[in-house]
Amino acid sequence: MADRPVLIFDFGSQYVQLIARRVREQGAFARIVRHDITAERVRELNPIGLILSGGPSSVYEPGAPKCDPGIFELDLPILGICYGMQLACQTLGGAVQPCPSAEYGRTELFVADRESPLFAGVDAATTVWMSHGDQVREVGPEFVPLATTPSCPVAAVKHKSRPVYAIQFHPEVSHTSQGSTILANFLNKVCGSDGSWTMAKFVEREIERVAATVPADEKVVCGLSGGVDSAVCAALLAKALGDRVVCVFVDNGLLRLEERDQVAKAFGDSSKAELRVVDARADFLGTLAGITDPQEKRIRIGHTFIDIFKREALSIPGAKWLAQGTLYPDVIESGGDPDGPAATIKHHHNVGGLPAELGFELIEPLRDLFKDEVRRLGLELGLPESIVWRHPFPGPGLAVRVLGEITEDRLALLRKADAIFLEELHAAGLYRQTAQAFAVLLPIKSVGVMGDGRTYDQVIGIRSVQTDDFMTADWSRLPYDLLAKVSTRIVNEIKGINRVVYDITTKPPGTIEWE
Ligand code: XMP
Repeated sequence: MADRPVLIFDFGSQYVQLIARRVREQGAFARIVRHDITAERVRELNPIGLILSGGPSSVYEPGAPKCDPGIFELDLPILGICYGMQLACQTLGGAVQPCPSAEYGRTELFVADRESPLFAGVDAATTVWMSHGDQVREVGPEFVPLATTPSCPVAAVKHKSRPVYAIQFHPEVSHTSQGSTILANFLNKVCGSDGSWTMAKFVEREIERVAATVPADEKVVCGLSGGVDSAVCAALLAKALGDRVVCVFVDNGLLRLEERDQVAKAFGDSSKAELRVVDARADFLGTLAGITDPQEKRIRIGHTFIDIFKREALSIPGAKWLAQGTLYPDVIESGGDPDGPAATIKHHHNVGGLPAELGFELIEPLRDLFKDEVRRLGLELGLPESIVWRHPFPGPGLAVRVLGEITEDRLALLRKADAIFLEELHAAGLYRQTAQAFAVLLPIKSVGVMGDGRTYDQVIGIRSVQTDDFMTADWSRLPYDLLAKVSTRIVNEIKGINRVVYDITTKPPGTIEWE
């Protein structure tokens, strides 16, 4: 059962990935598929149920996305949400029209049929989240209404003879107070899910799959960045393949204080895989000498990394595979799943065209997982919390946090300040509550006074943000006492810094990094 997916048809809703995560939270394996997947392909994928997502279109408009009507003949449980409801009802004989006035936000749902499995344990009146301009006006001969809201006479329906349900509201968003009960009811009571898609099961199956994929005489190269995705990817591969995994960690000289040792220790302690640390500090600092333009820094770092990684990977006898820590949102958004929706937002390019250039095959053990699931997987695999809960760190490293020219001395100043800030954030118990926190070294000097003397020294900026997706962010309201302590320690302990500023800019208009 745990292997059989719930397929989520993507009709363009901004909530498609959220639906998938909610389904997984209930212990069922959700996969997002293109809305026009054929009924035959659906049958091959052997799902336990289908969810038709919402979407921005109107079902009665020419060109509106439709599903293969054959899916309704498969006798599979189906839950239509919002647009998905309108499409299910229209396809099976109901009528959809514009609402007299569009309905957005919280509203009260009155459940008329509390015997229905979909509403088991749900209150007779419950708060739901609506976001629609159309609604089902007539249910047609095949559906019975289950619930209403003050402005939506048909807010939920059930098919008379098939396991097809549909709801106008969004159970996946947290504003629908009993949304997870409703989703759980659909999965457990209608689809017959046994809730057994757990991380432990995932690990077991993925280890088997990796072991079966990589022939016994071949090796996998896995780039380690110090971040959580590559660490989890490496740990999983190591469990499956042992010493046939060779991890390559490139020390580009742009790492945080003691980062190289931390990665080597966290990794060496828990894995049979071979770890190769490439000391490329001179190459990177050489190519960055005199460069101040942020994009130019990124370009040079990217090229140097590829050259060095390629050279190292090609020197490993038997290496035929390159591991990449691609996550499910990247796969979906880049159109990387043949059954998934077409590319929408971005093309992911963790290591660009490296596999092809190297003549390697690509292996992506995390491609079915969301970020929060990768963290759970990391814990399951025994990785230390310090790696699993690490904030993201940009590929170009401290090069984009030393504003202006990069020199050993300036990097050393920044490292010390950054370490003090993170140490105090940890000590205050606030590290996990912030999404990303770091120091930057500004390209200016300012006047100060120390003892009896005037100083003319460098300035450190402190940045800490709250965000879920890193596309928008708010600055963290860190306690003044914490900021005071960080500032005092930085100016007292680091010779050459006489001023500390706290960045209170949201994104947009600011970005999280300063360069
Ligand atoms: P911005 O600064 O664009 O950052 O608001 C959003 C997130 O992306 C990270 N970031 C990068 N990551 N290479 C990376 O791998 C880069 O060039 C890069 N620039 C920004 C940043 O740390 C934040 O998490």
